[in-house]
Amino acid sequence: MPDASPPRTSAPQTNATMSEPATSRIYDLWAKTYDCTFGRLIHKRQTRAISEMRHQPGDRVLDLGIGTGMSLHQYPDTLEVVGMDLSAGMLAKAAEKVDEHNLSHVSLIRGNALETPFADHSFDHVVISHTISVVSEPNKLLHEAKRLVKPDGKIIVLNHFCSKTPVVGWFERVANPLFVKIGWRSDLTLEECLEGVGLRVLYHFKTSAVDIWQIVVLSPKRLPLTPG
Ligand SMILES: C[S@@+](CC[C@H](N)C(=O)[O-])C[C@H]1O[C@@H](n2cnc3c(N)ncnc32)[C@H](O)[C@@H]1O
Repeated sequence: MPDASPPRTSAPQTNATMSEPATSRIYDLWAKTYDCTFGRLIHKRQTRAISEMRHQPGDRVLDLGIGTGMSLHQYPDTLEVVGMDLSAGMLAKAAEKVDEHNLSHVSLIRGNALETPFADHSFDHVVISHTISVVSEPNKLLHEAKRLVKPDGKIIVLNHFCSKTPVVGWFERVANPLFVKIGWRSDLTLEECLEGVGLRVLYHFKTSAVDIWQIVVLSPKRLPLTPG
């Protein structure tokens, strides 16, 4: 007889997940303190992640979930940069940076990164920094990024993914409902994001052995690349 009982698992199941209306409100609040809190932690890693694009003058870059624009100083004015975000508060902070530093190569647009208005293959690179665990459908975000990037382009994902170390992973799944309340999922795995998207993982790495964030370089095509 087939066993009809639910599968035994040591992994606690949580239903808490993100939703765009709540996220927009949460990040409007975060906007006030983001740069001097979380923003302070990310500088070095974000610099490294964006350098993995290996951009060329004239390249078009889309930064999905650009937030307060902490990444803006990484993009030289030889690039054309579009930054999109859901939160008016976060985007207003990014707009201040654009004005203050006269970044005429940057355009900002408010919108949902899961359903963008851009044409297929209209960007050389797509950057998703600390945002894939914030959207309601991480898998859909990668589908959209794949649609938008050129066939030989790169998608750079910088994110914390649920730990594969059993105790830490267990804690991250248990604590997920709390993290969701403050603006991100702690139970998201890279495998869940990639499932069925058809993107190649060119490589992924951490900037140090103790770093909890990963830099993942993806492409629709196999490219002969290794970490720089
Ligand atoms: C943790 S912040 C990261 C900001 C920035 N990328 C960074 O690394 O500092 C996540 C950002 O994603 C934005 N976001 C969340 N869901 C989004 C969606 N569906 N579409 C566009 N932006 C979204 C939030 O408003 C927030 O600004």
